[in-house]
Amino acid sequence: MSAPGPFVLEAERLRRVYRRGPEEVAAVDDVSLRIERGSFTSIVGPSGSGKTTLINVLGCLDNPTSGRLVLDARTVFADGRGLSEAKLTRVRRNVFGYIFQKFYLVPTLTVLENVVLPFTFFRKPGAEEDIGRLLRLLGLEKRAGHLPGELSGGEMQRVAIARALVNKPAILLADEPTGNLDTARSEEIGRLLGELNAREGLTVVLVTHNPRLAALAGRTVELRDGRIRAA
Ligand SMILES: Nc1ncnc2c1ncn2[C@@H]1O[C@H](COP(=O)(O)OP(=O)(O)OP(=O)(O)O)[C@@H](O)[C@H]1O
Ligand SMILES: [Mg+2]
Repeated sequence: MSAPGPFVLEAERLRRVYRRGPEEVAAVDDVSLRIERGSFTSIVGPSGSGKTTLINVLGCLDNPTSGRLVLDARTVFADGRGLSEAKLTRVRRNVFGYIFQKFYLVPTLTVLENVVLPFTFFRKPGAEEDIGRLLRLLGLEKRAGHLPGELSGGEMQRVAIARALVNKPAILLADEPTGNLDTARSEEIGRLLGELNAREGLTVVLVTHNPRLAALAGRTVELRDGRIRAA
């Protein structure tokens, strides 16, 4: 095993092509990108520029059409071949936390039950002790027994963040996590991601339309038509 380098994710000439009938759309086109361990990166760009496609490929939720993806010095995808589905499932559970624009909370489960939902599939040692801390960190300790329908939009998003963090991921991938929230709530979530990055060393990759949120990151990557726009 090689020692862990400074980069937790390395993408080399990634392409993700969608077919629409006879037409091909390169949603991600020749993207090379290295994400440093413990860094905070924002991905910006107009609608349709490939942000979601890229973050899904980086997060091993989607296979690239070509290119190379290396996670923690381990090749996930290269030469048109990826890890087996079983190995990918393990990577998704162990390495990543995902936050989506839609919260995807289960309406019939309480806040606490939603947060511990990933434990149904897998539980990292020590993760359980951290639940109280996580709920406090996200200001949800008084909401643990509430149903999602009883929460504000910002609170629901914080539940989704708690759920993404409960299994102690190394990398948090957030696709427009504040898309449904007002300015004040968005900035609150942005600050929180910044704190998690600074205090806990969590690697954060944030897709956002909001320039103020993007500015919280140490580095901003701009996409245009599936390509990284030169700074
Ligand atoms: N499943 C799909 N099938 C075909 N084309 C797709 C699919 N998903 C995305 N695309 C196309 O790929 C391109 C990039 O889409 P993507 O969703 O990654 O953009 P985005 O930057 O996330 O946009 P937004 O800001 O609106 O969320 C778009 O042209 C889109 O129409
Ligand atoms: Mg998108």
